[in-house]
Amino acid sequence: MVIFNRSLSLNRNTSNGRSFSFNKRALSVGSPRVSTRLSSVSRFFRLLVVIGSLISFLIAFFGGYLYVLPSLSQAFHVHGIHNSTFNGSTSSCNVLDGSWVVDDSYPLYNATECPFAEQGFDCLRNGRGDTDYLKWRWKPESCSIPAFNAQSILAGLRGKRVVFVGDSMSRTQWESLICLLMTGVQDKKSVYEVHENQITKQIRYLGVRFASFNFTIEFFRSVFLVQQGLVPRHAPKRVKSTLKLDKLDDISNRWVDSDVLIFNTGQWWVPGKLFNIGCYFQVGNSLKLGMSIPTAFRTALDTWASWAEENIDTNRTRVFFRTFEPSHWSNLTRRVCNVTQQPMFETKGREYSIFSDAVFEVAKNMTIPVTVLHITSMSAFRSDAHVGRWSDNPSIPDCSHWCLPGVPDVWNEILLSYLFAGDELHNQ
Ligand SMILES: *[C@@H]1O[C@H](CO)[C@@H](O)[C@H](O)[C@H]1NC(C)=O
Ligand SMILES: *[C@@H]1O[C@H](CO)[C@@H](O)[C@H](O)[C@H]1NC(C)=O
Ligand SMILES: *[C@@H]1O[C@H](CO)[C@@H](O)[C@H](O)[C@H]1NC(C)=O
Ligand SMILES: *[C@@H]1O[C@H](CO)[C@@H](O)[C@H](O)[C@H]1NC(C)=O
Ligand SMILES: *[C@@H]1O[C@H](CO)[C@@H](O)[C@H](O)[C@H]1NC(C)=O
Ligand SMILES: *[C@@H]1O[C@H](CO)[C@@H](O)[C@H](O)[C@H]1NC(C)=O
Ligand SMILES: *[C@@H]1O[C@H](CO)[C@@H](O)[C@H](O)[C@H]1NC(C)=O
Ligand SMILES: *[C@@H]1O[C@H](CO)[C@@H](O)[C@H](O)[C@H]1NC(C)=O
Repeated sequence: MVIFNRSLSLNRNTSNGRSFSFNKRALSVGSPRVSTRLSSVSRFFRLLVVIGSLISFLIAFFGGYLYVLPSLSQAFHVHGIHNSTFNGSTSSCNVLDGSWVVDDSYPLYNATECPFAEQGFDCLRNGRGDTDYLKWRWKPESCSIPAFNAQSILAGLRGKRVVFVGDSMSRTQWESLICLLMTGVQDKKSVYEVHENQITKQIRYLGVRFASFNFTIEFFRSVFLVQQGLVPRHAPKRVKSTLKLDKLDDISNRWVDSDVLIFNTGQWWVPGKLFNIGCYFQVGNSLKLGMSIPTAFRTALDTWASWAEENIDTNRTRVFFRTFEPSHWSNLTRRVCNVTQQPMFETKGREYSIFSDAVFEVAKNMTIPVTVLHITSMSAFRSDAHVGRWSDNPSIPDCSHWCLPGVPDVWNEILLSYLFAGDELHNQ
């Protein structure tokens, strides 16, 4: 039985937006590395290096100019670094292989009019003045993502339960999907949080019901996906809590009975949220004090995979894992955040993430189909789309979270294209 078949007819506008091109090569000429000692030899060398880099800059500039001219529509192009679906037809279009193009029909909603967009992500309301960042659409290279049509998606979700599980990036995507869909709902009061809870950063569960369409879109906060535990006996003093890598979060039983399940994790797997606050890894009864974060992440993902294989009824539930969301801090200390007005020309390595790679490796080997939403590389260009200082706490700059409307809407459009466009999209 196929839950999401092609019964929907989604409008597919051909691209009518302008598209930008940036000369990636010309801009990638780095400044030469020179020693700080000012001996005459090093000065001579410096001169040579400067001349050399000037020449290579010119070569790269004009070479790049000629190289890029024929492909004006391919701004911020990403080639599919990974296969995005497993168990799919090999001739299908890779939705994640494409480029950002300007589209004046964006943004798709006004966050200030959406009760489920938290104020911290509503950058316009928080004083952001520039608006170019709102106008970008993702264009796959060899097909189109259907133009968002709230009515047909609302109809397609009737009777369903959509569940997001993960950290605050998952909450943002949850908010984005609700706001996208509310544009198609006449009676806004018919959309409500089932426990009348307010959105907060710590809340474990939020469920929004679209009463007229009989479906819910839910969010479970589970930042590591695995269980957090207390200090085992006889543990060294520095251990204040543990992460049980072999046990999935104790609320995981509430994720099973769903039609669409979308996971993410990654942002919390950093020393500052683990070792620096005394949280160490545990497997079974033994503490793994020396285990590295990448190894622990992989172990947790394996636990997640076994859980999914044992518990998910694939006749009912479509499983997605969204990959790591790149951040754009100017400084490794994560204090300097320079939100640009335009996307970056080059991703400077942000298109790769060990967390995303681990998700691919694990998903590939699973006995149930899991669709990996590989948003890492496409989002890596979007240094313009972060919250910056236009959050609810302007004193703390934020180059990790994203403005709404914005990039999370595009993640959702891709998610919806997997759910509803099916072969139509892939065979275009
Ligand atoms: C993608 O997956 C298919 C089927 O598993 C495989 O045949 C193909 O070579 C893969 N492509 C890449 C670029 O890895
Ligand atoms: C969004 O809605 C608010 C409240 O209705 C309004 O004040 C604001 O101008 C709107 N913003 C945009 C960009 O349309
Ligand atoms: C709402 O959806 C549920 C779950 O799919 C279904 O059992 C129920 O019959 C639906 N109710 C109505 C009024 O359509
Ligand atoms: C899933 O569907 C197939 C074919 O319709 C059926 O044979 C199988 O028993 C179903 N599995 C479950 C767990 O319901
Ligand atoms: C960037 O971080 C370094 C420490 O890693 C610090 O010395 C430097 O001042 C920071 N730069 C800015 C612009 O804050
Ligand atoms: C921020 O980025 C702009 C280019 O987008 C650059 O001109 C400016 O110097 C940067 N500021 C800082 C503090 O890095
Ligand atoms: C894939 O799964 C098999 C069987 O569960 C296991 O033996 C193998 O080690 C796994 N490979 C990877 C790369 O995880
Ligand atoms: C496709 O998925 C099925 C289970 O749904 C699995 O048995 C099979 O090995 C998978 N094939 C590939 C090529 O991954």
